[in-house]
Amino acid sequence: MIKIGVIGTGAMGSGIAQVAATAGHQVYLYDNNPDALKMAGERLQKILDRLVEKGRIPQQEATAIFNRLNFVDTLFAFKDVGLVIEAIVENLEVKKGLFEQIEDIIATDSILATNTSSLSIAAIAAACNHPERVIGIHFFNPAPVMKLVEIIPAVQTGPDNLARTRKLVDSWGKTTVVTKDTPGFIVNRVARPFYGEALRLLEEGFADAATIDWAMTEIGGFRMGPFALMDYIGHDVNYTVTETVFRSFFYDPRYKPSFVQKRLMEAGYLGRKSGRGFYDYREGQPAPEPKKEVELGQQILDRILLMLINEAADALYLNIATKEDIDLAMTKGVNYPKGLLRWADEKGVDTCVQGMDALYQEYLEDRYRCSPLLRKMARNKEKFYKSEK
Ligand SMILES: NC(=O)c1ccc[n+]([C@@H]2O[C@H](COP(=O)([O-])OP(=O)(O)OC[C@H]3O[C@@H](n4cnc5c(N)ncnc54)[C@H](O)[C@@H]3O)[C@@H](O)[C@H]2O)c1
Repeated sequence: MIKIGVIGTGAMGSGIAQVAATAGHQVYLYDNNPDALKMAGERLQKILDRLVEKGRIPQQEATAIFNRLNFVDTLFAFKDVGLVIEAIVENLEVKKGLFEQIEDIIATDSILATNTSSLSIAAIAAACNHPERVIGIHFFNPAPVMKLVEIIPAVQTGPDNLARTRKLVDSWGKTTVVTKDTPGFIVNRVARPFYGEALRLLEEGFADAATIDWAMTEIGGFRMGPFALMDYIGHDVNYTVTETVFRSFFYDPRYKPSFVQKRLMEAGYLGRKSGRGFYDYREGQPAPEPKKEVELGQQILDRILLMLINEAADALYLNIATKEDIDLAMTKGVNYPKGLLRWADEKGVDTCVQGMDALYQEYLEDRYRCSPLLRKMARNKEKFYKSEK
């Protein structure tokens, strides 16, 4: 079994180390901040203790997992690792510098992976003498709990290294999907309208946040409504992702950020963590009541879902991933109740096209352009999936 190196032991790095050690690998963890490394050790010990308390794993196994975690204070300890996963600060220049440095330490056939959420894998790989062994392995937070992992080959990545990486991460009990090296990969791209269209409805005064959340959870079956979810993620994080995706797509209006959310961020109303966001979490504040009108709720769901389906179809149209992987990514990565392309089949592809065209006619905004794939499929009376299930 190969040894795994993890660089950066914050929220993601420590979770990834736990996954690899649980799968039986010797894991080497390094952080340039000794306090962060120490905290990761304490956090991992606590998590394993809790798993024992809850009866999920025996004490003996928890001890074995912890003993496979090697906290090191120099990258030279990585010389025998077969895979390095980098989970440091989201900054291209810093990541490039680290990749340059680590390449001199590890063997030439070792794989070098980044957990970046928003940077180009090709740009990181370009820092290396052997860019063919650089790849994206994008875990979701918390890494030990979330099943989905996006695997992102860069233009430079060797096909063997892609196959090796996918096989390895699959062996850790994860569901892997392969995606092109484009902004947001699958999940952070296809999920944009869940937030963006909800914000647009709010800005238009179509409905308030509580009503939109009610429609999406009670009628749509989503685990959380968009506003509750944005408050949970934090507006600093969620707004920044939206703005980064918007910029990275050369300002495609479909991804345009919202002023309502920007102002919340600027005001420091970051959501749950600061006590206020779209909702007021301070003690004694009553939760706002949604307008539980089924017809209104259905209109809200239809519009947000339509935009999500259009985004998923466009990702398929542009060969970002296979239809199966796009649907898996949304059900396993962000717990959507159904794959969006399967949902399109259920609604009827022609109904989706009519819905998009009606929105476009209403607003005359490029944001509401229908994906050429949906239009072509409607013309040919095609479905995404042949069978019902
Ligand atoms: N937090 C998420 O939800 C999430 C999800 C998926 C991917 N990511 C990505 O994972 C990466 C890490 O995110 P995080 O949330 O764990 O961040 P974090 O701030 O919790 O942890 C980053 C750690 O990296 C360390 N570090 C910074 N520069 C370093 C360097 N040059 N060498 C060694 N260690 C260094 C820091 O001391 C810190 O402990 C980022 O690229 C982020 O985009 C984050």
